[in-house]
Amino acid sequence: MNSAPLDRLIDALADTGMTRFFRRMFDDYPDLLMKDQTVEAVRPDRTFKLGGRWVTNFGSDSFLGLDQDSRVTSAIERGVRAWGSHNGSSRAFASVEPNVRAERKIADWLGTEAALIYPSVTLANVGALPGLVTRRDVVVADQFAHNSIDEGLKLAKARGVRTAKFAHNSPDALEETLRSLRPFRHAVIAVDGVYSMSGHLPPLAEFQRVAREYDACLYVDDAHASGVLGEHGRGTVREALGGYDNVLTIGSLSKGFSCLGGFVGGSQAAIDVLKLKSNSLIFGGPVPPPYLEAVCTVVDILMSAEYPALRAKLDANVRHLTRGATQLGLAVMGGRVPIVSVLVGAEEATLKAGKFLYEHGYYVQSVVFPAVPHGAGVLRMQVNANHTPAQIDGLLDALAALKDATPMPEASAVASLVAA
Ligand SMILES: Cc1ncc(COP(=O)(O)O)c(C=O)c1O
Repeated sequence: MNSAPLDRLIDALADTGMTRFFRRMFDDYPDLLMKDQTVEAVRPDRTFKLGGRWVTNFGSDSFLGLDQDSRVTSAIERGVRAWGSHNGSSRAFASVEPNVRAERKIADWLGTEAALIYPSVTLANVGALPGLVTRRDVVVADQFAHNSIDEGLKLAKARGVRTAKFAHNSPDALEETLRSLRPFRHAVIAVDGVYSMSGHLPPLAEFQRVAREYDACLYVDDAHASGVLGEHGRGTVREALGGYDNVLTIGSLSKGFSCLGGFVGGSQAAIDVLKLKSNSLIFGGPVPPPYLEAVCTVVDILMSAEYPALRAKLDANVRHLTRGATQLGLAVMGGRVPIVSVLVGAEEATLKAGKFLYEHGYYVQSVVFPAVPHGAGVLRMQVNANHTPAQIDGLLDALAALKDATPMPEASAVASLVAA
């Protein structure tokens, strides 16, 4: 029987590259793969039911625990009553009032002139990055910048813009890359504000010096820092540079904020241009109004007198887990943002380790290739402000049992890894 071209296309894709890699892994380790599972229920105490078992969830980016904060959930309910579930229109036509209010609040919180909200950080990066440049300009990115920056570069390149990568966190490599691309009108330098796996921060002040010498500006994806690094959770840029001159700062509303979306903060002139030049914003829908109401509530919490205590709780939890895992002799990475990773190594061993912890009552993410290099799988543990010390001790006990049951890399193995 003749199959349809679509069926043959799908068959061909199933047998190529990454799809084939994962298919083989599914076949080889059917009971190990802790991916693609359904969360069946959630409780306010950071436990959830997964695969029929209640476990403590160390896999959530809701770093401040605001997903369970009644002020945030009430704001969403209030937003639904006032605006319905969605206004259903691109912002190229009109924006609802909570959108305008949320952008004003984000800008005031950051200390930028203006801000622009996108439905996600990915859509910000694939909209703003190509929107900022023409064929006369260039875009360069840190080799370990987030995948969505890479996608933004690909779109820019498809429109005839020259793009390049430079060695991780190296001002010399950045300078060399820009020099090799000359002549150009302007350059955009795209980096992460914090590399979540390694905890590396970019040398922003040195990058800024190079930027000014080469008619370039900085584009900093601070997604992981939003709400959790810097004064009032403003992120890394203002701390490193004292302000936002010659910089666009990009943040997340889905991680520390526990809402939905991403934003770009910068000068009013830059935001006005991005509104006209970001295809993902013009041709796609916005964050629904109830979530914009929640964003406004979260900014109020970040700016309130209560924030330092919330942050202190989160920071104490991060220290507790990092110190404990280090004392166990595990190869610990990160801890700068509330993501603590433990190196395991081979894909199978990493998946087995995740399953072991799950069976001991703790969900953490087993991260394997392509998110990390081949053979450098990690257990990624996201710490939240509303994890209790007892939950962290319990996870540490489970990690100790894992180490007794399985050979794990020595702490020194981290140094040889260049994972971002
Ligand atoms: C640096 C960075 N940029 C972008 C994203 C993607 O964010 P979003 O889920 O809002 O598209 C992430 C998510 O982990 C990230 O870490």
